[in-house]
Amino acid sequence: MEQRDAVVIIGSGLMGSGIAARSALAGNPTILVDTDLDFVKSGYNKACQCIEELEKNNLFSEKTCLQAKRLITVTTCLEEACGQSKAVIEAITEKLDLKQALFETLDRLLPEWVPIMSNTSGLRITDIAKRTKHPERTMTAHFWFPAHLVPLVEVVMSDKTDLALAESVTDLLNGWGKAAVLVKKDLPGQLANRLLQAVIREAINIVEIGLASPEDVDTAVKMGMGIRMPVWGPLEHIEAVGLDLGLSVQQTVLPEISASKTASPYLESLVNQGHLGQKTNQGFYDWTIKDKDSLAETRNDFIIHALRFMEARKK
Ligand code: NAI
Repeated sequence: MEQRDAVVIIGSGLMGSGIAARSALAGNPTILVDTDLDFVKSGYNKACQCIEELEKNNLFSEKTCLQAKRLITVTTCLEEACGQSKAVIEAITEKLDLKQALFETLDRLLPEWVPIMSNTSGLRITDIAKRTKHPERTMTAHFWFPAHLVPLVEVVMSDKTDLALAESVTDLLNGWGKAAVLVKKDLPGQLANRLLQAVIREAINIVEIGLASPEDVDTAVKMGMGIRMPVWGPLEHIEAVGLDLGLSVQQTVLPEISASKTASPYLESLVNQGHLGQKTNQGFYDWTIKDKDSLAETRNDFIIHALRFMEARKK
């Protein structure tokens, strides 16, 4: 009988390498696939760096990390990887036609019961799976960057995804130590980006109307609502303060904040001036002064401390 015990990750870039690390740390033989041997070898090295970061910070034992590195293999041959696969996660370039072609091939190569997931951040899984014969086994599994650290994975169902399979994938990812949520409609922004966009829309609006500086907007989020959010969600928050108070605040504040249904003209004008943020050293901030590497390092350190805290609470 054929042996199908591997998780196959296709695309060994920024996301695929982090996802591979988490798959292997969960004890799965993990096959990383890319189009070029040098790319996939570099993806393997990145996955090992992710594992080492988790080991260095005592989030996984030395033994588990050593085993995880051994569980990852690499190939450029999709057919060979699919022959051993019990689940596939696609993390290739964000282009609809590329993903559609890959899903069509995967659908042909894999038995009908093997789930095929896409890590797409912005495309509809219904569109990605359009050319497959078995769209009921396709879904999005949207990991957040950095995938080896951020717990959230959004499992998004297409119009045709089988609910029981989507639930079992959600359980599977939770078993990897991720925090998987099930999103039952294939709408733009999945779940978390809808929430994030609501915050970003108002953050830009506050700067645009001169209510506060970019620094103070970010400080207000980081040092106010943000610092409690890993353990205190917005709905838990209004339940705690009382839904009556929540309603009264909405009645006063919502008429005053942005309800724009279009992208921000203010943001558009920055983009048109060539101010793209860190990419061009200028956006809301001057990145020749602000240290982007140290900011990213602080972000990762903070996540690691939060993860350690949550691990300790489980014991
Ligand atoms: P990346 O550019 O770092 O890596 C993509 C990899 O896919 C490259 O190594 C490329 O050679 C490979 N590839 C392209 N076509 C292929 C094919 N047909 N077969 C095998 N390999 C192929 O991209 P990144 O950032 O890792 O993004 C991957 C996916 O994850 C995209 O859909 C993106 O939207 C999504 N995503 C990205 C996030 C981010 O912060 N970068 C966050 C969450 C999701």
